[in-house]
Amino acid sequence: MDLYVISGVTGMTGNELSRKLVAGGHRVIGFDNFFASSITTVEDILENQWFSFYEFDINNREQMEMLRDMVREETEMGRFDRVVYINCAAVVHTEHFYHVNRTFETNVLGMKAFLEQAEAVGADTFINCSTSEVYSMNSWGEHGVAESDYITMANAEHSQRTSYATGKLLTEFFMKEAVMEGRIKGCSIRFANVYSKNERYPKHIIPHILIQLKEHGGVELLENSKVNYRTFLHNEDSCGAVIALIQAEDALDGSVYNVATDEEISILDLVKLCAEKLGIENPRITFNGYRESDPKRRLLNTDKIKARTDWRPHITLDQGIAMCVKEMAD
Ligand SMILES: NC(=O)c1ccc[n+]([C@@H]2O[C@H](COP(=O)([O-])OP(=O)(O)OC[C@H]3O[C@@H](n4cnc5c(N)ncnc54)[C@H](O)[C@@H]3O)[C@@H](O)[C@H]2O)c1
Repeated sequence: MDLYVISGVTGMTGNELSRKLVAGGHRVIGFDNFFASSITTVEDILENQWFSFYEFDINNREQMEMLRDMVREETEMGRFDRVVYINCAAVVHTEHFYHVNRTFETNVLGMKAFLEQAEAVGADTFINCSTSEVYSMNSWGEHGVAESDYITMANAEHSQRTSYATGKLLTEFFMKEAVMEGRIKGCSIRFANVYSKNERYPKHIIPHILIQLKEHGGVELLENSKVNYRTFLHNEDSCGAVIALIQAEDALDGSVYNVATDEEISILDLVKLCAEKLGIENPRITFNGYRESDPKRRLLNTDKIKARTDWRPHITLDQGIAMCVKEMAD
C-alpha cells in the first residue's frame, strides 16, 4: 500500500485522483481550502477508511505542520511501500491569471513549502502540476508545441497574464533542482484545459457554455472566441497521466511532460457540439469583451509522455461533453 498526500484534493484533478487511488487499495490524505471547489466532489469517498480530508490552506503554516506530523505518524508505523506527494492546489482560472498577487502565494510559495515538506518526511516522489500557459503566445506548431521547444514568454509590457505562467515555470525549476540534487524523485506536468463532468465553475469555458445554453438557449462569448481553437482533456485522462508517470520510475527525472489531447476544436464548434448534446438547434451566440494576450491556438505535442509511459487519452470530446450533459440532467 502507498500513501498519497494530495493538496487541492477537492479540485478537478485531486478528487478524481483520490477516487482512483483508494479504489486501487491506497491510502490518501488530502486537503483543500475550498477556494474553487467544495466537499461535494469527494462525498462518495468521505466514508472510505483509506481517505482522510482536512479543510486546510496550503499557505497556513500551522495547518501544514499538522499535516506533516500526521504523515510522519502514519509513515513511522512502516505500513507504506511508498509516499507520494501530489500538488494540485493552485489559483487556476483565467480570471486570476492577470493578477500577480492572487496567484503567487499559493502557486509558487505554497508549492515550494509543500515540496520541502515532502522532502522532510522522506517522501519518495513529488508530482508538480504546472501548466501549458508557460508556452504563452507560442502555444502551437506544426506538430504541437513540445517540452524541448524554447519558451518565448510575453513580457510585462504585453500582458500581466504571463505572471501566472512565470510562477508555474518557477515551480518546474524547484522540482528539477530537487531531483537533480537527489532529494526526491518527481516531475512537472503541463496540463492544457482540463474539464470534468462535475465542474460547475462557470468561468471555465465548457461549464460556461453548457450552463448558458441550458438556461438561456444561447451563450455570450468573448470576441476572442471568434478565432480561438483549443484542445480539452477530460479529468479522468489527466489523472490517468499522473498515475502513469508515478508508476514509470524512469520518467521521474525532474523534467516536464505535456499532457493534453490533440483533438483541436474551434470555440464556435464547441458551442455547436454542446448545443447538439443538449438538443438545442441553432444556438444564439453573442460576443462581448476581449481578453488580452490570449493565444489563438494551444496545441501540445505529447510524444514525450507517450514514449515514456503507456498513457493515452481515452475520452473523446464528444464523449466527454455527453458525460457533462448527462451529469447536469441527473
Ligand atoms: N484545469 C486546467 O485546465 C489546468 C490547466 C493547466 C494546469 N492545471 C493545474 O493542475 C492543477 C490542478 O488543477 P485543477 O484542474 O484540479 O484545478 P481546480 O481549480 O479544480 O483545483 C485546484 C484546487 O486547489 C484548491 N486551492 C486553491 N488555493 C488553495 C489553497 N491556498 N490551499 C488549499 N487548496 C487550495 C482549490 O480550492 C481547488 O479545489 C493545478 O496546479 C493547476 O494549476 C490545470
